[in-house]
Amino acid sequence: MKFPITSVSILLGGLFALSACKEGPNVTKVQYMPDMADAPTVKAQENILNPPEHSVTINAILYPETYEQAEAELRNPFGEGPQVSDEVKAKGKKLFETYCVVCHGADGKGKGTLGDAYPIPVPDITRPELHGKKDGFFFLRISKGGELMPSYGYATSPHERWWIASYIRELQKAQGAPAAAPATDAQPDAQQPQTQPK
Ligand code: HEC
Repeated sequence: MKFPITSVSILLGGLFALSACKEGPNVTKVQYMPDMADAPTVKAQENILNPPEHSVTINAILYPETYEQAEAELRNPFGEGPQVSDEVKAKGKKLFETYCVVCHGADGKGKGTLGDAYPIPVPDITRPELHGKKDGFFFLRISKGGELMPSYGYATSPHERWWIASYIRELQKAQGAPAAAPATDAQPDAQQPQTQPK
């Protein structure tokens, strides 16, 4: 009869142990291991890791605020004017035909392939008024879009936007724009590609 005695003592021991778990004013609950239950709870749409004020994401690109600033501060890294290689122009043409012709037309004059399906008037970007603009103007416009024009900063890399800007110059030349003089101010490096072996 050894077996029943063992069972009975286990049962009694268990009951005794359980009775210690009864809650009361003198019970101190011991937490075995602090776990996720203790972590601060984050509600849906809530962010407890708000970045400090004035922080920017590491991949942020800070564009100039105005077109004047863009023209003064930004330089086309592929050169402006005669320095621009045929390769850059060809790449710019391909991108222009991908993103811009729908509204601006293959010649840039504003009659896009969307035709009347796009009811908003699209300006002629080859008109003389824009011939004197620096590439930075076009770069910023493509990056940020306009009031009615979508922005292409999300779809294109900065290099690609400079190529498109270079191609716009080609379209302008086709409309009689004088070949822009190379941008000499603050851009000694841009002269180099011409003298370096390809
Ligand atoms: C969905 C139609 C649409 C597409 C696509 C589009 N644009 Fe535009 N674009 C416009 C309209 C409309 C305006 C004038 C209104 C405004 O500024 O938002 C404009 C204005 C511009 C201007 C300023 C012209 C001025 O008179 O100051 C430039 C430069 C320009 N676009 C270049 C581009 C380039 C380059 C692309 C391709 C990367 C492009 N656009 C794609 C509709 C478009």
